Amino acid sequence: MSTKIVAPSLLAADFGNLQRDVEMVNQSDADWHHIDVMDGVFVPNISYGMPVVKAIAQHATKPLDVHLMIVDPDRYIKTFANLGASILSVHYEACTHLHRTLQAIKAEGMKAGVALNPHTSVRLLEDTIQDIDLICMMSVNPGFGGQSFIENTYQKVSDLKNLIEKKNSKALIEIDGGVNATNAKKLVDAGADVLVAGSFVFKSENPTATIKNLKEQIA
Ligand code: DX5
Ligand code: ZN
Repeated sequence: MSTKIVAPSLLAADFGNLQRDVEMVNQSDADWHHIDVMDGVFVPNISYGMPVVKAIAQHATKPLDVHLMIVDPDRYIKTFANLGASILSVHYEACTHLHRTLQAIKAEGMKAGVALNPHTSVRLLEDTIQDIDLICMMSVNPGFGGQSFIENTYQKVSDLKNLIEKKNSKALIEIDGGVNATNAKKLVDAGADVLVAGSFVFKSENPTATIKNLKEQIA
């Protein structure tokens, strides 16, 4: 069995059939449900908020990997803990006191994640990496599904992997944006542990089979 994780992003699900799509992920070889929350301020788009996350949580049987693309995320840490998030990722660029935010997430019993925009250097995590459980490395500019993968990500993944090893951190590396069958294996070879895939899974003819293939490719 592979220890590499596949997390389908429900942003690309059919919201008119959300229960069906959550149950598809439950029954597939996927490991986590990736949930993208956007506020229309930190990113240009608004995705969905608490009532929708609650509905997803009611049907989901796998860990909820919540990716907050919002300003001042501290306001909602408790809320997402109560909604059942297992991992809560905040953006580096949206936190004034990142270390404090990470402690607050962990105090609520969740794993603490930090998401990095494509322009944000991994070196900026040097002083917090030991407190981070997951780094969500954006391989597109956050805000929308279905964008093209940014090739510079491979270099960033290996730089981050080196930093993690140097600092003896247990952080997992998650790649988010434009992940597909062409780049999945290469990303894992560069050091990625978790692959988020939205459009590639949900816009495919057979999402269950697509998830299975992705898992097999990175096994
Ligand atoms: C983008 C989101 C991603 C998105 C990925 O801002 O964070 O999780 O759903 O979608 P794809 O896989 O279509 O690029
Ligand atoms: Zn995401």
